[in-house]
Amino acid sequence: MDKAGQVWEAWQELVIGRADPIVVMTTSMLAIAAVPVVLTWLSMRRHKKREGKKEDEEAKPEAKPSHHGNLTKEELKEYTGKDSSKPLLVAINGKIYDVTSGSDFYGPEGPYNLFTGIDASRALAKMSFKPEDLAGGTDDLSQSEKDILFDWEQKFKMKYKYVGDVVP
Ligand code: HEM
Repeated sequence: MDKAGQVWEAWQELVIGRADPIVVMTTSMLAIAAVPVVLTWLSMRRHKKREGKKEDEEAKPEAKPSHHGNLTKEELKEYTGKDSSKPLLVAINGKIYDVTSGSDFYGPEGPYNLFTGIDASRALAKMSFKPEDLAGGTDDLSQSEKDILFDWEQKFKMKYKYVGDVVP
């Protein structure tokens, strides 16, 4: 006997064998009636989940208008997330990237917020959070630090939007 046959036999034994026909009829009808109810509930749940996701996406800071154009070092300092109406900007090798989509990393509560509003080249090249590296230039970097910086720049180019240059 195949699997379906075995299940049917077990069902007959369990319900029909022991209960009277009224109970069998009632349980069967209830089971059949439950199918559309369950299907409707599942589809409503799925719909709700999708709606929730949409709202989450809308609430995310990516919705902020991105800054476009060159900025001086002083102007760039305004883009750290302190002013939540402004995007989060990080510069590497003088090129400014909008990292707002990475706000978990770069937002005011993120571990890398200290790279926003500045040209973070030196700190990234040296993998350092030291204040002097957050402020310093790149002229004296070693070859391996330059290589690390190159890799960071490639990553930012791929992941974030380039929006302008740091200008004097
Ligand atoms: C204990 C040391 C560290 C740990 C455990 C750590 C952990 C991580 C993790 C898990 C990520 C996410 C990687 C991904 O995109 O999948 C990340 C990204 C990153 N980390 Fe670190 N990190 C450490 C040190 C550093 C240091 C020293 C720097 C630089 C000074 C740094 C800068 C970054 C940056 C810029 C990102 C990229 C974020 C992005 O995708 O925009 N991290 N780190």
